[in-house]
Amino acid sequence: VEKVSVGLLGLGTVGSGVVQIIDHHQDKLMHQVGCQVKITKILVNDVTKKRDVYLNGTRLTTDANDVIDDPEIDVVIEVMGGIEEARNYILQALRNKKHVVTANKDLMALHGSELLAVAVENGCDLFYEASVAGGIPILRSLVEGLSSDRITKMMGIVNGTTNYILTKMSQDGREYDEVLAEAQALGYAESDPTSDVEGLDAARKICILGTLGFSMKIDLEDVSVAGISGVSKEDLDYGKQLGYEMKLIGLASRMDDKVEISVQPTFIPLSHPLAAVNNEFNAVYVYGEAVGETMFYGPGAGKLPTATAVVSDLVEVVKNMRLGVNGNSAILPQFEKKLKSDRE
Ligand code: NAP
Ligand code: HSE
Repeated sequence: VEKVSVGLLGLGTVGSGVVQIIDHHQDKLMHQVGCQVKITKILVNDVTKKRDVYLNGTRLTTDANDVIDDPEIDVVIEVMGGIEEARNYILQALRNKKHVVTANKDLMALHGSELLAVAVENGCDLFYEASVAGGIPILRSLVEGLSSDRITKMMGIVNGTTNYILTKMSQDGREYDEVLAEAQALGYAESDPTSDVEGLDAARKICILGTLGFSMKIDLEDVSVAGISGVSKEDLDYGKQLGYEMKLIGLASRMDDKVEISVQPTFIPLSHPLAAVNNEFNAVYVYGEAVGETMFYGPGAGKLPTATAVVSDLVEVVKNMRLGVNGNSAILPQFEKKLKSDRE
């Protein structure tokens, strides 16, 4: 492999960060993977829109087939969002024997097992590190760094937008609507922020964490979900007077083959490290039978932190291409048993 060509689906917050990192870190990437990595085509909605990244001759297109069916393209990076269209494009790319990197938790939480199976069938990698907790490399930590352990519980803040809103309301006394608009302008929120504020985005992430951490197939409807849209400044002030900070907490815990999985606003004692996780930052506690308690902390949303995770996945894909070992995805869940949920 002397040169790797990449097709990008989407050039918004995350996509433009990916272009920027690949451009700025080309020497470092060359050193890491031993060949040149170039984005050759990018799918967008509107080719006339003004972009704030240097495109260096990369062609923009509104025709997805232009990217996915291009025989010169080795890797497709999906950072456009949405579910059905993104799913079809990824399936088409995998069937065309292209490796795929995605940041799309909506898609991976719903259709991850189908997509991973198609990736393996076609000898392709499908990596999705950016789908959970932005710049924190939590998925690989679960399936590689902690692979020898039996994980019993994961708990933490996995949505940057709601943490940003709660922080600004609690610490600066600001209004919910105004701070939500700010989180959108900063590129933290989903295109429809309802999924952030109603807890669904966090539910999708905790579903992915549970599936990987517990090696069990966990469905989104197994997660009990409550968001922060009903939380008032008075609630936050009241909690503070009693020594608590409110955080939107995702929790997945298991005992034997029974799993409890939820997302809900929770009062955290001010003395607990999660109470000090502010703004768009995320933190995830992982409890393992052997390791005990570990905590992962870092930026959970935003252009460059998220793009770092995407480009790191790309580096992994290219290393695998050079070794000829694609299709054995490092973040493929190895299912032990089916979740026994309350529905059964
Ligand atoms: P975004 O800013 O809204 O960008 C979406 C991009 O995709 C835009 O460039 C848009 O084109 C293009 N696009 C969307 N639908 C399209 C379609 N049907 N056909 C062609 N182009 C289409 O979104 P984002 O914040 O970058 O998020 C992208 C993905 O990353 C989502 O799955 C999101 O959940 C995930 N993610 C985001 C973050 C974050 O902090 N923002 C963090 C982790 C994961 P135009 O530019 O022409 O409109
Ligand atoms: N909207 C998401 C968040 C982006 O605020 O956490 C990162 O997944």
